[in-house]
Amino acid sequence: MLIPIENVLSKDEVLHFRQQLAAADWQDGAMTAGTLARSAKTNLQLEDGSALAVALGNHILRKLGNHPAFISAALPHRIFPPKFNCYRNGGAYGLHVDSALMAVGGTELTVRSDLSATLFLSEPDEYDGGELQIDGPFGVQAVKLGAGDMVLYPSSSLHQVTPVTRGERIASFFWIQSMVQQQEDRTLLFDLDRAIQGLTPDSTTRPDLITLTQVYHNLLRRWAVT
Ligand code: NI
Repeated sequence: MLIPIENVLSKDEVLHFRQQLAAADWQDGAMTAGTLARSAKTNLQLEDGSALAVALGNHILRKLGNHPAFISAALPHRIFPPKFNCYRNGGAYGLHVDSALMAVGGTELTVRSDLSATLFLSEPDEYDGGELQIDGPFGVQAVKLGAGDMVLYPSSSLHQVTPVTRGERIASFFWIQSMVQQQEDRTLLFDLDRAIQGLTPDSTTRPDLITLTQVYHNLLRRWAVT
């Protein structure tokens, strides 16, 4: 399931990010691709661990920590430090799957990629092409969101970024290890939580709603690994 998470960053925050990224030192993205993926990847990336990547990444992590839709959808246990990329001049990333285990540089930590995230930092009308295409059970879905919006998708899926034929596509991307590893279980919890939130404003004292909330927490208690 693809889950759009809107307004992770405000338009003002996006502007601030873009101003800093415009002056950044971008590197060839192929340097960090796996052996198979390397030949398919023609984009630019910000150096991991650079002061700018860390500062902007931490800002994103702070925003996500206060974003109820993200918490509900991802049930995050660990989040890989956000990375940044730029596609231009026909740059693309061919069909690939993300690595299952991601070592966090400079630490002993490994993040299992349950969910992949792309946070768009360019508006769709700033570039042509550059669609994130994700293979799923119902075929290929193409994603191109507004600046400041993010998509979550299962890291198990094959996906690609089509060539950017005009302008520049700047984005942040990272991976999430969820407390609930199985996507089907996470989807049940997400649907249940959304239904409970939808009922909550006008019926907080209904016994049925209290029971549904109990079911949510007892399923989470059963499935969560922390
Ligand atoms: Ni990928």
